Amino acid sequence: MDSHSVSPLLKDIIQVENLTKTIDNGSNRVEILRGLTFAIPRGEFVAIMGASGSGKSTLLGLMAGLDTATSGRIVLDGLDITNLAEDKLARIRGTKIGFVFQAYQLVPTLTAQENVLLPAELTGAAGDIEKRARELLGRVGLGNRGHHYPVQLSGGEQQRVAVARAFITQPPILMADEPTGNLDSINGSHILELLLELNREEKTTLVLVTHDQQIAGQADRIIALRDGAIVSDQHIVRIEA
Ligand SMILES: Nc1ncnc2c1ncn2[C@@H]1O[C@H](COP(=O)(O)OP(=O)(O)OP(=O)(O)O)[C@@H](O)[C@H]1O
Ligand SMILES: [Mg+2]
Repeated sequence: MDSHSVSPLLKDIIQVENLTKTIDNGSNRVEILRGLTFAIPRGEFVAIMGASGSGKSTLLGLMAGLDTATSGRIVLDGLDITNLAEDKLARIRGTKIGFVFQAYQLVPTLTAQENVLLPAELTGAAGDIEKRARELLGRVGLGNRGHHYPVQLSGGEQQRVAVARAFITQPPILMADEPTGNLDSINGSHILELLLELNREEKTTLVLVTHDQQIAGQADRIIALRDGAIVSDQHIVRIEA
């Protein structure tokens, strides 16, 4: 069996064990994450909260394989990514994870459609990816804007392109770092609705960093950080009407 194919029955899609991140700037040692342990079951929507500087983005970057830990372990879909070489990490990122950033981060010289296609081209995804990109742009309400460049789109529209881009490879995990942080409340709600739809309808695991209590309130679970440690980890109980 290929080491990348793991039983989809594995309950926890993300496992984090005793994770630490320390930055050494010569004389100065900063402990950014101090031994975090938790697991995220497949399909869960987890909000990560905490004050500015508490380590939220650092944690998300480590879980996405964008950064390397000082110690501890991260297992994604059964695969230990903690000490993987960059080429292997890039492949995992390309197949397992879609990422949405606060500042959209579209490539300015590519059209909306080309931006959406990019991850699929980088990972050599199979099938008619152009058709899929058009469908995804339609799904985020930009069916007629595929040929526009980022500068021709509003912030909310650019973030919708970023959501379509994150989902082009149909990753089992979506990570979003304050995806509504730069948007007004109407555009922010639209982005959150899109992410929630991908979580509910496609069973995509959603890990979302937010400062917004109202957004976090829609998650299944809230993990709160303070000074690089978990101070609470609570499931949200909803009574269905
Ligand atoms: N490369 C680095 N070198 C030194 N310190 C760093 C580095 N990266 C992060 N930090 C520090 O680690 C702490 C956590 O940063 P991080 O970006 O994870 O916080 P955050 O919770 O995402 O904050 P915000 O809500 O402001 O985005 C901060 O104090 C930050 O200054
Ligand atoms: Mg941050």
